[in-house]
Amino acid sequence: RAPEPATLVIFGATGDLAKRKLLPAVFGLWQDGLLGSAFNIVGVGRQEMTDEQFKDYAIEALKTSKETDTPQPGALEKFRELLYYEFGDFGADEVYGKVKAQLNEAEDAHGGRKNALFYLSTPPSLFEPISNGLGRLGLQDQTEGWRRIIVEKPFGTDLASARHLNDTLHGVWNESQVYRIDHYLGKETVQNLMAIRFGNAIFEPLWNRSFVDHIQITNAEDLGLEGRAGYYEEAGVVRDMLQNHLMQVVALTAMEPPAAFDADAIRDEKVKALRAIRRIPVERVSEVAVRGQYGPGTLDGEHVPGYREEPNVQEGSGTPTYVAVKYEIDNWRWQGVPFYVRSGKRLPKKVTEIAVVFKRPPLGLFPGGLERNVLAFRIQPDEGVSLKFSSKTPGQENVLREVVMDFRYDAFGAQLESPYSRLLLDAMVGDATLFPREDEVDQAWQIVSGILEAWDPASPHYVPPTDFPNYDAGTWGPDEADQLIGPDRRWRRL
Ligand code: BG6
Repeated sequence: RAPEPATLVIFGATGDLAKRKLLPAVFGLWQDGLLGSAFNIVGVGRQEMTDEQFKDYAIEALKTSKETDTPQPGALEKFRELLYYEFGDFGADEVYGKVKAQLNEAEDAHGGRKNALFYLSTPPSLFEPISNGLGRLGLQDQTEGWRRIIVEKPFGTDLASARHLNDTLHGVWNESQVYRIDHYLGKETVQNLMAIRFGNAIFEPLWNRSFVDHIQITNAEDLGLEGRAGYYEEAGVVRDMLQNHLMQVVALTAMEPPAAFDADAIRDEKVKALRAIRRIPVERVSEVAVRGQYGPGTLDGEHVPGYREEPNVQEGSGTPTYVAVKYEIDNWRWQGVPFYVRSGKRLPKKVTEIAVVFKRPPLGLFPGGLERNVLAFRIQPDEGVSLKFSSKTPGQENVLREVVMDFRYDAFGAQLESPYSRLLLDAMVGDATLFPREDEVDQAWQIVSGILEAWDPASPHYVPPTDFPNYDAGTWGPDEADQLIGPDRRWRRL
């Protein structure tokens, strides 16, 4: 999978994401010799800086990021030589001209090719000017080398703006050149969901309405806002997690087996699954979705402020930091099997999992023997897969108790690679399997549209929350979420 010689152009190179995730990921790939024979990076920003200053900045970022692999002796110094920097106004042509000149300059070292991956690690308002600027200078043209563009989430803020963004990108690029990054698809365990489903004979026969009672997907974070109020106040949990990361997880759990393991076959199946998710009209939102916002509370023995007390959050803010939703999927496989999805900030701990909860046994022959079996995919942390079932407890009585069979990634003895490393390398070699396609993103917005209409203050159908804050930091969210899944089912205790 060695990529051809190429230049990685990072727009927003001095931003937070580049510093915390991208530079460490690129450095790790380079140090492991995975980036091919010739490679260099051009950082682009609006901030004036010389090459030397940028090199210093990047090396410092690598030294301070927790995600950086331990550098081999001399590796940082060598990596430094691969870095360049250009700056300018993203609305004018000059900066793109400088990027073009960089590609020309790299041509000889790159075996006569001008391959380039443009990474837009910028606020979304800059996607359009940058894509258009690259287009004006013909930088999307693939005659002298491949050209690809990576766009970070959020892809739009609602259905209309996502469509507009896609149209804008398509004004310059073919869909096959566009890589929309969703880092959840780069997580080892998310990929393993497909591998386990379609690489074994025992799971798939049970993976349907005849055996499955319901699916539960949990994404819990103990973190709060982390100084991101400006973004989060606008986004809220629906745009931040539900529409993208969690929708991808739902699609991979619900999809049919693809005809082949390639980008389009897989993405076709994901789109089919998303299409089958029943749309939620704005008037029905309160029946199938619960929102929450955290108030002050205690986490790990420490007092933490409520959402409304966080810096730069508006007084009386109605932004949801928790969501629980019940999806129904109208297809042959999943008819009558609800998918419950919950996500929240300032919950007791960080954990993400997918639980396939099976039906109860038809007959209770033994005391305690009517529990539902659960196959759980632990996405993070303690990555692994577990199967919960009932077993006889030792002794004279035939009493059953739940036990767990557990697979953990430690068994491989290898460290899990960062999602950004995986996805960057995929984009460099032109494998789009783990990148959401235009139609997936469109479907995902359609699915959450009703919820956004009901919960977004900018919408004419907005229903202001009357009970915010409705859960304490450090608890598992509002009580209504238990009612949503109950009375015969309950959220897993994690
Ligand atoms: C990001 C969200 O996309 O994903 C954050 O913007 C969230 O709010 C993060 O914390 C979660 O990612 P992970 O990999 O830590 O589960």
